[in-house]
Amino acid sequence: MKSDPMIQVPDGLDLNAIPAHIAFIMDGNGRWAKKKLMNRAKGHEQGVETVEEVVSACRELGIDVLTLYAFSTENWARPAMEVKALMHLFKRFLKTKIEEINKKNIRLNIMGQIERLPDDVRKEAEQAVETTQNNSAMILNLAISYGAREEITRAVQKIAAKVRSGELEDKDITDKTISDHLYTAGMPDPDLIIRTSAEFRLSNFLMWQAAYSELFFTPTLWPDFTSQELYQILIDYQQRDRRFGKV
Ligand code: FPP
Repeated sequence: MKSDPMIQVPDGLDLNAIPAHIAFIMDGNGRWAKKKLMNRAKGHEQGVETVEEVVSACRELGIDVLTLYAFSTENWARPAMEVKALMHLFKRFLKTKIEEINKKNIRLNIMGQIERLPDDVRKEAEQAVETTQNNSAMILNLAISYGAREEITRAVQKIAAKVRSGELEDKDITDKTISDHLYTAGMPDPDLIIRTSAEFRLSNFLMWQAAYSELFFTPTLWPDFTSQELYQILIDYQQRDRRFGKV
């Protein structure tokens, strides 16, 4: 997608070389809240504000796919109160922001074990996906109850079932077959994965798709992350030499 011609970006950012897919590991909400002597849920609440800013910025930049890691398969082990607060935030976001998302011609996609979500959250998510299904300016992937190992395991199970039924022959399985059975089927792999809060791990995020992604780590805590910082990261990204294993 082409960038919004009205967008104000810093000198040095080339709007003709914007990555197709950016993914974020949104980390540091808890530490942000702790620093301000607030409870962790307040950090997540402030994190939603950053989500809104980043979605708008990526839409204006003309990014095709934005993936946000909102809740991992491992996050279910957090204290019940925190899980409840997060589920409440997801539901409220899906309910109150979908109109704006739809107006911006963004297609929402949920990546992850949607069947594990509480009924009310799952219904809101399914409704939001349906409302926006024909939109074409950008895909917003919300990774909720997502884990790359679960995603790959699920893909292998689906492929095995196709081999068993005779729909597919084992010799015809390629890396594209695997990509086509992931939650990101049909989407480009992430060009850039950004993790906030000075943690240097992938944490079970997009492990198949990240094979050639550029990684960027910032000390900024997610609630403090801004579109201006995103532009600076993109300037850095545009100076990198992506060789994909070639010379
Ligand atoms: C990691 O910070 C963040 C999460 C587990 C939740 C991410 C959720 C949001 C940003 C808000 C809701 C999002 C949407 C899409 C509506 P952490 O809690 O692990 O922080 P810490 O490492 O500082 O404790």
